[in-house]
Amino acid sequence: MVKLTLPDQWLGEDLPGWEAERKTAADILHRVRGGEPEYAGDLGWFRTRTWAGDDTLERLTALGAEIRSKADVFVLIGVGGSNNAARSVIRALAPQGAEVVYTGNSLSPHALGSLLERLEGRQVYLNCIAKNFETLEPGAAFRVLRLWMERRYGPQEAAWRILCTGTPGSPLEELCTRRGYAFLPFPTDIGGRYSALSNVGLLPMAAAGVDIFRLADGARRMEALLGEAPPEENPALLYAAFRDYLSRRGCRVELLSSFEPRLRWFYKWWEQLFAESEGKDGKGIFPVTGEFSEELHSLGQFIQEGFPMLFETFLDIAQQGPGDSLVIPPDRGTGDGFDYLEGMDLWDIGRTAFAATRRAHGEHLPCAVLEIPRLEEESLGALFYFFQFACYLSCRLAGVNPFDQPGVEAYKRWMFQGLHKP
Ligand code: PA5
Repeated sequence: MVKLTLPDQWLGEDLPGWEAERKTAADILHRVRGGEPEYAGDLGWFRTRTWAGDDTLERLTALGAEIRSKADVFVLIGVGGSNNAARSVIRALAPQGAEVVYTGNSLSPHALGSLLERLEGRQVYLNCIAKNFETLEPGAAFRVLRLWMERRYGPQEAAWRILCTGTPGSPLEELCTRRGYAFLPFPTDIGGRYSALSNVGLLPMAAAGVDIFRLADGARRMEALLGEAPPEENPALLYAAFRDYLSRRGCRVELLSSFEPRLRWFYKWWEQLFAESEGKDGKGIFPVTGEFSEELHSLGQFIQEGFPMLFETFLDIAQQGPGDSLVIPPDRGTGDGFDYLEGMDLWDIGRTAFAATRRAHGEHLPCAVLEIPRLEEESLGALFYFFQFACYLSCRLAGVNPFDQPGVEAYKRWMFQGLHKP
């Protein structure tokens, strides 16, 4: 499902301090499994079935099919935890449903203006996702778009084309009641960045045509594995301990890298999860990502020879899926210097490049590998659960609250002051 391989040094018995680190992590794992009362209000994601049970999956699958039958475009308004998970899956799997476009995540007039132009002549559905309906970026975009929808379709038709996902009892729900929009609960016991397996992530995925049952199945199987595996074999524990061990020894930056560009938006989800969860109280590991091969030709120099503050986690897709094969054709006599590639599959060339990179980087920094079998729904579901669980453990090892994000309020305070928000 997800296989973690730590560098050789971590596999033996004599890495100083590693055994103690694992023991501390095992104690934390024990407490986490027992259910920590101080975090009870944030652990709605811990049992996948709580917010992604079969009934929910059926309802959202049916709603997604209905949306697909009536919409060319599904506009997802949301920022951070309200859009990252859905976008990561939809962009990675490119399902054949409604085209999903993303807004409410920037303040660029150009971006919103060109999105409105793209909607002309197309059948549109809108999903505004906001846990706290005070966030300015989605709030402003929703106002512009719902008024556009009402002008375009008239208030009655616009009403069934607009769905909101928000906190029950919030001003967003009140707005939905007044205007007749459908309202789906944003779980009150899940923070945005942990909300992939809930209405938040699952509705846009279903509208796009993702098989959310398969996604949830991957997450559930990972939940069972991490809930039962003994500490010495528990991949989330080992990953969290590996990270904490390194950060305490000066490696303050984690590079998540892979050779698959379709993971670009998954990286965004991962960066948010770890940056917002861990980066507080003067602690944390700064998450960065490497999209190889391209960034081997930019970041690669620093990774190989720069200041030693990095460790790397390769996200490796082990098996070919549909479309993962393209053979280099012959073109003898042109002298382009690439005859040695003739007849080779780009997939195999990529495997060789990965092995070479792992070896080269491994000479300079600690490199772990997290392997998934294929890029498909089950693997992404498993990765969501794996990283959320590991992030929780990592934060507990670092001694920070995994579920709050007080730091992001600072810019908002100054911005609201500058905008004279009442
Ligand atoms: O993880 C989190 O809680 C945050 O990153 C939120 O998802 C993000 O700030 C968006 O918040 P909201 O849905 O309230 O607009």
